[in-house]
Amino acid sequence: MKTNEMKSVNGGGASGADHPQLSIAPDVRLGKGVKLSKFINLYGCQIGDNTKIGAFVEIQKNATVGKNCKISSHTFICEGVDIEDGVFVGHSVTFINDIYPRAVTGDGALQTEADWVVEKTVVKKGASIGSGSTILANVVIGENAIIGAGSVVTKDVPANAIVAGNPAKLFRYITEEQRIA
Ligand SMILES: CC(C)(COP(=O)(O)OP(=O)(O)OC[C@H]1O[C@@H](n2cnc3c(N)ncnc32)[C@H](O)[C@@H]1OP(=O)(O)O)[C@@H](O)C(=O)NCCC(=O)NCCS
Repeated sequence: MKTNEMKSVNGGGASGADHPQLSIAPDVRLGKGVKLSKFINLYGCQIGDNTKIGAFVEIQKNATVGKNCKISSHTFICEGVDIEDGVFVGHSVTFINDIYPRAVTGDGALQTEADWVVEKTVVKKGASIGSGSTILANVVIGENAIIGAGSVVTKDVPANAIVAGNPAKLFRYITEEQRIA
C-alpha cells in the first residue's frame, strides 16, 4: 500500500492494512490523515488527504476521491468516477459507469473488461450528494451543487444548483450564505 502516513481507523491511529475488518488492496493510494471506518473495500483507487470514509463503502479501481471529502456509509463509487476536493457524499449513494450493462456477450459467455467501456462521472469541488441518490454515468456535478436525497441524476448539474427528484430537476441556486468558499 502506497501511503504517505498510517491511516487512522475510526480515529484510533491503527493501520487499515493490518485491520482485519478492512479490505484495502496494495495498489490503493491513500493520502495523509485519511480516516476509515470498519468494513471498507478499496482497490486500485486514490483517496486524498484527510478524507473520511464510512462503513461498508466500496471504491473501485481508477476512481479518485479528493482531499477533505466525506463519503458516508454504504456508498458505492465505481471505476470512472472522479470526486474533487471537499465533496460530501451521503449514505447509500450509487454511481454508475455502464448505461447498457449486460452480464454476457452475444455468444452467452460471461463478459470481461474487454467487452464494455467504462463511462465517466465527475463531481466538482465542494458539491454535496444527498443520501440514497443514484448518479448515472457521463454526468458532471458542478462546484458546490447540492443533490437532494433520493435523486436520480441523469444529466449535468450546474455549479451552485440544488437539484432533486427522479429525474433530478433544478430547484433553485444556493444563496450566497450557503456557498462554500
Ligand atoms: C433538496 C434539499 C437540499 C432541499 O432543501 P430545501 O430547499 O430546504 O427544500 P424544502 O425542504 O423547503 O422543500 C421544498 C420542496 O421540495 C421538496 N423536496 C425537498 N427535498 C426533496 C428531495 N430530496 N426530493 C424530492 N423533493 C424534495 C419538498 O417536499 C418541498 O415540496 P413542496 O414545495 O411541494 O412542499 C433537501 O431537502 C435535501 O434533500 N437535502 C439532502 C439531505 C441529505 O441527503 N443529507 C445527507 C446526510 S444526512
